[in-house]
Amino acid sequence: MISAMSSIIKFNKVSKIYGKRPNDFVAIDDISLEVEAGESLAVVGKSGSGKSTLVHLMALLDRPTKGEILINGKDSTKLASKKIDLLRNKNFGFVFQQFFLNPQDSVMSNVILPLMIGGISRSERNKRGIAALEDVDLLEKSHEKAVNLSGGQKQRLCIARALINKPTVIFADEPTGNLDSVNGKMVEDLLFRLNKEKKITLIIVTHDEDLAKKCQRKINIQDGKLVKK
Ligand SMILES: Nc1ncnc2c1ncn2[C@@H]1O[C@H](COP(=O)(O)OP(=O)(O)OP(=O)(O)O)[C@@H](O)[C@H]1O
Ligand SMILES: [Mg+2]
Repeated sequence: MISAMSSIIKFNKVSKIYGKRPNDFVAIDDISLEVEAGESLAVVGKSGSGKSTLVHLMALLDRPTKGEILINGKDSTKLASKKIDLLRNKNFGFVFQQFFLNPQDSVMSNVILPLMIGGISRSERNKRGIAALEDVDLLEKSHEKAVNLSGGQKQRLCIARALINKPTVIFADEPTGNLDSVNGKMVEDLLFRLNKEKKITLIIVTHDEDLAKKCQRKINIQDGKLVKK
């Protein structure tokens, strides 16, 4: 039995180095941090500072060169790739600046895509698809092709897809970067509502100071290092 542990993600002296010497590049430089279950965390910093790299490491989309990444107290760096994929699928949802939708497929088939991997029955997929589309107020578009949605609707569809596996954490990398202010606000409100009502931990990479301020906590990355402020 693991004792009650509040930190859902913990970095112990994590570095990510791309390439080989002498042309190697330290993208994440000896970062230690903890993310508490249920919090909302903004990751800010200049372009190229390492925000996406950091978040990819947190989300187990990438492996560190050095250090440990603990998920619910368990060291992920010791796990085989298949176990990592399972852990990621079960716990994490993703929302990116680019939508990564299948444009010619229906809204419903896009939203249930993550379930096609898991061997879940058609009726269960449909039930969960409907619930996720309801959560983002997009059920009436379920038979529409994804390509025909507006930008804001596309991002809400991505959020529905991120929700389909009932994640404990949603990672959002510049989620409002491609949206106008009205749709951006709608997507922001939706993410914070999911954080509050479903207690989903929210990790948002953003250039937008106003969005960062809405998060409970902010971390600042500079040249791959965590800087205090
Ligand atoms: N696969 C890679 N190989 C080599 N260098 C990389 C690779 N991926 C990222 N980098 C470098 O690591 C640094 C951090 O990149 P990252 O994408 O994390 O920045 P970012 O803070 O997300 O920037 P932006 O705000 O522009 O999205 C950059 O200098 C980038 O060029
Ligand atoms: Mg980035």
